[in-house]
Amino acid sequence: MKVMVVGGGGREHAIIKKLKENSTIENIYALPGNGGIAKDASVVSVAATNITAIKDFAVNNGIDYAVVAPDDPLVLGCVDELEAAGIPCFGPNKAAAIIEGSKVFSKNLMKKYGIPTAAYEVFEDMDKALEYLKTAPIPTVIKANGLALGKGVIIAETREQAFDAVRSMMSDKIFGKSGESIVIEEFLTGPEVSVLSFTDGKTIVPMVSSMDHKRAGDNDTGLNTGGMGTIAPNPYYTDAIAAECMEKIFVPTINAMNQEGRSFKGCLYFGLMLTADGPKVIEYNCRFGDPETQVVLPLLKTDLLTVMQAVTNGTLADVDVEFKDDSACCVIIASGGYPGSYNKGYEITMPEDIFDKVYIAGAAEKDGKLVTNGGRVLGVTATASDLKSAIDASYAMVKKVSFENAFYRSDIGARALRAIKEC
Ligand code: AMP
Ligand code: GLY
Repeated sequence: MKVMVVGGGGREHAIIKKLKENSTIENIYALPGNGGIAKDASVVSVAATNITAIKDFAVNNGIDYAVVAPDDPLVLGCVDELEAAGIPCFGPNKAAAIIEGSKVFSKNLMKKYGIPTAAYEVFEDMDKALEYLKTAPIPTVIKANGLALGKGVIIAETREQAFDAVRSMMSDKIFGKSGESIVIEEFLTGPEVSVLSFTDGKTIVPMVSSMDHKRAGDNDTGLNTGGMGTIAPNPYYTDAIAAECMEKIFVPTINAMNQEGRSFKGCLYFGLMLTADGPKVIEYNCRFGDPETQVVLPLLKTDLLTVMQAVTNGTLADVDVEFKDDSACCVIIASGGYPGSYNKGYEITMPEDIFDKVYIAGAAEKDGKLVTNGGRVLGVTATASDLKSAIDASYAMVKKVSFENAFYRSDIGARALRAIKEC
């Protein structure tokens, strides 16, 4: 069987490594992949957003199954194109991917179907947004409607910052069309939990919960990043909270999408905040999270391809999706300067024997060597029977990886460990 994975980051590397456990797969193609993924898959130099070229590659190379991992191709309708060409896919079609592609859509969906989320207003007119902000409670949260490389959310601590955020999106158009309409929403507080789920539109199976660490510096200081590390399971996500989320959020979301004629098939990601008033949805993603996938998939016991194909075929109810009872920790090693500007091209060295546990995100191959090629360069994941051991094992491997100007947080999982002690 020939499988194609669209995308080229740490998440895609984790998906590919997991798929490789299935011996019926002869070859995995990564479009575009990266220099590190090239050790586990055949990389093909086609951008993840070049839908026509992706479809042509799949048709010309007899691809039997496609996994479309990143948000952009999903929102652009990559799955629709591939399916029209007769290629079965894992991932939502364009109509369903709007749950991530438009914040206005997702907020209105939650309001219409009574799914708990932060109170909000939508604006298409900058003057009206600025007028509203004169009296809105501060802090407040400003969100660009469309995709913005994960940067479209601004938490304004002061009224001035809120005005600036609106102007930057609606007048300076820093996110282009994505900021033509905006959501201004209530600032919520509480622990955050990421829950990825498999769904075929009828059955929803939540995966093990996880915790992202979005800020660049230790103790959650510094700028927001794409994620500097993750742990799973998330200790704040108790069985009681999981049951409440299933009843009030997960099932209602699937039903709401069906009602809207936008049945969702694929991985639906729930970004949740556990507030004093109960769990609320901070965001939906129409795909696997990055770097959550790098801790969630190593804990999956069931064959990933089997689960994915059941999602595609609408038979997820027939599959027993099981996770190990262990914990996992992924520490991201980034280029010095990230999420600001950074240099590329430094050689990455690590012992061969840890490569199995390393997910490469931003690296290229140059003259037979692996060199840095992005902000987040790679993630190192360890699993163990308890979280503390997973964290220690992950950091022990991190110390064996080196490249110039490398940096990483030294406290991934520390908050989770404190939460476990408090329970
Ligand atoms: P997003 O890009 O939607 O993942 O948002 C980035 C981060 O902003 C989230 O992980 C939260 O930490 C924070 N955030 C988003 N919405 C809110 C909100 N309504 N209240 C507080 N924090 C928020
Ligand atoms: N880790 C958050 C995301 O994938 O959007």
